Amino acid sequence: MAEGSVQTGAARTTGVQSRGARLTLRGLTKHYGEFTALASTDLTIDAGEFFSIIGPSGSGKSTLLGAIAGFVAPSGGSIEVDGRDLVGIAPYLRNIGMVFQNYALFPHMSVFDNVAFPLRLRHMAPREIQERVERMLATVRLSDKIRRRPSQLSGGQQQRVALARAAVYDPRILLMDEPLGALDKNLRAEMQYEIKAFHEQIEATILYVTHDQDEAAAMSDRIAIMNHGHLVQYGKPRELYENPRNAFAASFLGDANLFEITATRGLAGSRVALTVNGDHALTAVVHADALAPERCVVCVRPEAVRIAAADAPFDDTPDDKPGCHLLNRLTGVVEDVVFAAGTVRYRVRVGTSLRLAVRQNAQRREDLYPAGAPVALVWSINDTLLIARE
Ligand SMILES: Nc1ncnc2c1ncn2[C@@H]1O[C@H](COP(=O)(O)OP(=O)(O)O)[C@@H](O)[C@H]1O
Ligand SMILES: [Mg+2]
Repeated sequence: MAEGSVQTGAARTTGVQSRGARLTLRGLTKHYGEFTALASTDLTIDAGEFFSIIGPSGSGKSTLLGAIAGFVAPSGGSIEVDGRDLVGIAPYLRNIGMVFQNYALFPHMSVFDNVAFPLRLRHMAPREIQERVERMLATVRLSDKIRRRPSQLSGGQQQRVALARAAVYDPRILLMDEPLGALDKNLRAEMQYEIKAFHEQIEATILYVTHDQDEAAAMSDRIAIMNHGHLVQYGKPRELYENPRNAFAASFLGDANLFEITATRGLAGSRVALTVNGDHALTAVVHADALAPERCVVCVRPEAVRIAAADAPFDDTPDDKPGCHLLNRLTGVVEDVVFAAGTVRYRVRVGTSLRLAVRQNAQRREDLYPAGAPVALVWSINDTLLIARE
């Protein structure tokens, strides 16, 4: 992830003159008997923001969306849209649009009638219905499919009808629950652009659920990571990637090499010497507000590591403080190497207790290290993150 995000149109000035609404959750909770599907959740999503929730299956993502839409009765807390509490208000009176993974289109109705449905439900005049449906179908580029049935459309086209239907009555908030989950990889990428462009046009606040971290990183202003009914962490994609709160956040958003710390020794210049996974020595930088190393694991991102021949000269610029390294270096043997889509991925075995994932931009073929090659792994002590175990 973090390899470029989807950009469409001019940068929006989030919240300014947006047609979207601000969404505020306070202490929102859902229990099923003894089971907590959603622990007390506080969150504010700005007007016009594209906010994604990622998390493993069963972590409570759909429960959270369902509570906001009104399909799930919360056990406690409030849901405010621009300051107005929604709890107790029927779903269709909330002015919130919803898009599901399975499209949920009406199979016996034409594209036009599917999109017109929410407007007829609201007793809108036929002429206005006609205008709005045509405008919406132009937005999702389906004007030429207006008389078709859903079964005569591709998966991507069906999902665009579902988008049009969810947004045709100008909801100020759109909820999307894994909307691209049923599409294959290429179509997903195309629909990501489609949905971003759609967001630019309708300017609604979007709360988007996906289990695909790359999709969330590419599309979102901010992302929340959910686990066991809790929001573990939220923020801009890059912030989450660079400062994961704990081991779960580090491994869920992006790939992470995580090492157990078995011994620590303070060094000069806010550095600490670590022993990880038994007998490997590393150096890390300790920040002023850091947790005690005993409560941490070491996190090293695969793309932070440089791979070189084991006998290549190694130049760790000497420091003013003796014994302090600026780089970490381990030697090992390539276990396997995968060359794909512009990157080379290695797994490198270091001693008996350590294995590292390493990712490099695709180099010239002759720079590849084959399985069995002895290699050195080198990375900055600043890329040696100490993060909370839990
Ligand atoms: N109606 C229900 N009764 C009991 N448990 C439920 C109900 N709906 C959801 N759950 C449980 O709540 C948890 C969160 O579900 P859900 O929000 O659907 O997760 P996600 O969308 O992240 O996969 C799951 O363990 C699920 O089994
Ligand atoms: Mg779900």
